[in-house]
Amino acid sequence: MIKISVVLFCFLVLGVNCFNNSTKFNSRPFIGIYTAPSTYSKFPGLNYSYIAASYVKFVESAGAQAVPIPYDATLEYLDTLFSKINGILFPGGSVEFTFDDSVDKIFSRNANYLIQKAKNATDQGDFFPIWGTCQGFELIHYIESGFNSTVLKSGYNDTTSHPTKKIDNSSKLFEKMPAFLKNHMKNFPYAYYHHDKGVIPQSYVEIPKLSQNYRYTSMGYTDSHREFIATFEAINYPIFGTQFHPEKNAFEWKIEAARDFKSTLVSQYFANFFVQQAKQNFHSFNGTSDENKYLIYQYPTYSLATSSYTEIYILKNFGNPEVDYTQAYVPKTKKSKSLIAKMILQNQFEDDEGF
Ligand SMILES: *[C@@H]1O[C@H](CO)[C@@H](O)[C@H](O)[C@H]1NC(C)=O
Ligand SMILES: *[C@@H]1O[C@H](CO)[C@@H](O)[C@H](O)[C@H]1NC(C)=O
Ligand SMILES: *[C@@H]1O[C@H](CO)[C@@H](O)[C@H](O)[C@H]1NC(C)=O
Ligand SMILES: *[C@@H]1O[C@H](CO)[C@@H](O)[C@H](O)[C@H]1NC(C)=O
Ligand SMILES: *[C@@H]1O[C@H](CO)[C@@H](O)[C@H](O)[C@H]1NC(C)=O
Ligand SMILES: *[C@@H]1O[C@H](CO)[C@@H](O)[C@H](O)[C@H]1NC(C)=O
Ligand SMILES: *[C@@H]1O[C@H](CO)[C@@H](O)[C@H](O)[C@H]1NC(C)=O
Ligand SMILES: *[C@@H]1O[C@H](CO)[C@@H](O)[C@H](O)[C@H]1NC(C)=O
Repeated sequence: MIKISVVLFCFLVLGVNCFNNSTKFNSRPFIGIYTAPSTYSKFPGLNYSYIAASYVKFVESAGAQAVPIPYDATLEYLDTLFSKINGILFPGGSVEFTFDDSVDKIFSRNANYLIQKAKNATDQGDFFPIWGTCQGFELIHYIESGFNSTVLKSGYNDTTSHPTKKIDNSSKLFEKMPAFLKNHMKNFPYAYYHHDKGVIPQSYVEIPKLSQNYRYTSMGYTDSHREFIATFEAINYPIFGTQFHPEKNAFEWKIEAARDFKSTLVSQYFANFFVQQAKQNFHSFNGTSDENKYLIYQYPTYSLATSSYTEIYILKNFGNPEVDYTQAYVPKTKKSKSLIAKMILQNQFEDDEGF
């Protein structure tokens, strides 16, 4: 009990010192959250994009404000936004990262542009962090393997909670994590997974570009004991990703995730870890009226019976002349029919799959 109290004190009260000895931090961090074409029949991708509200709550819970980054924005808009925000979160979702159609193409192109911009900024002493969850984790792998889609392997799909094994204590992500939380991740099915594809260690052998720049830092296992990468990070950049969903434990209520005291603390650790990285970036908006033009608060939220998310933000499309919005993603024709059938059968959702 004393041990836990000391760690909690460090974690909750002196959080800053647990992560970084430096005293200079940005106390008003803004996290850009990447949107995706809407899959909701009420708000078709032809006209709308969305963000699951759990990602907004995740960054807010650690003391940051959220700003949507339209997946379909122009590069000029991305340049402007980048100069004002302090970190980027690529969330979960069900986009296909191919260059097959105009919408997929702009999604991957803009994500790549932002990742390369962030790395260039960090190279120039302008420390700029990125976090990817689930689809975001897969997106960073895909892009940083040279748009190599074979890095995403089939047969690792999973929709349940698992313990996390082989946690690398020397990784940036886990180095400062209190031991009782690491032990909780190892011994308890804390990590909630909902993914179709997985990344495996063999790809780090086969793709030198990946292993030269990234390393995996823990492992997950499907129900049939197939091993896949649970977390990874860039070696020389503040880029991190989890295949599991730390934002779901506290904020998504239509699924069965671990809600116990320690699981909630583990999720909060990841949120605080990432926001603490963002607090080391000093980009800023030009005052509150400029902030208000971009902040998430101006967008409406919906709680749709047809969605697997508790709450979603809906945004109008950017209206980029480069994009043919008639090609916007339609999940029912693109995802495996068995998976959709299973979701509909069990949960009556039909407009998304909650990745
Ligand atoms: C923080 O300071 C402590 C004590 O001075 C030192 O042991 C530790 O290595 C420092 N950590 C970092 C990340 O600089
Ligand atoms: C939806 O998008 C299409 C294509 O950009 C456009 O022609 C149409 O006016 C939009 N509809 C609404 C209701 O915004
Ligand atoms: C990043 O830097 C490289 C090398 O200077 C440059 O070629 C590239 O255009 C930059 N990328 C972005 C997105 O700014
Ligand atoms: C793409 O990844 C596969 C492994 O998944 C690898 O064998 C192949 O060499 C990679 N292709 C390129 C162009 O790097
Ligand atoms: C993985 O996908 C296969 C094929 O669609 C399906 O039979 C299986 O139930 C899925 N497993 C999980 C854990 O979702
Ligand atoms: C990593 O840290 C945990 C928690 O402190 C500890 O239980 C475990 O033995 C460490 N693992 C290694 C390989 O040192
Ligand atoms: C601590 O923060 C400073 C910037 O304030 C950064 O340069 C340094 O890399 C950070 N150290 C760690 C261990 O995160
Ligand atoms: C910041 O906003 C003020 C008005 O609030 C304006 O006068 C100024 O030009 C703006 N600066 C920049 C760099 O946009």
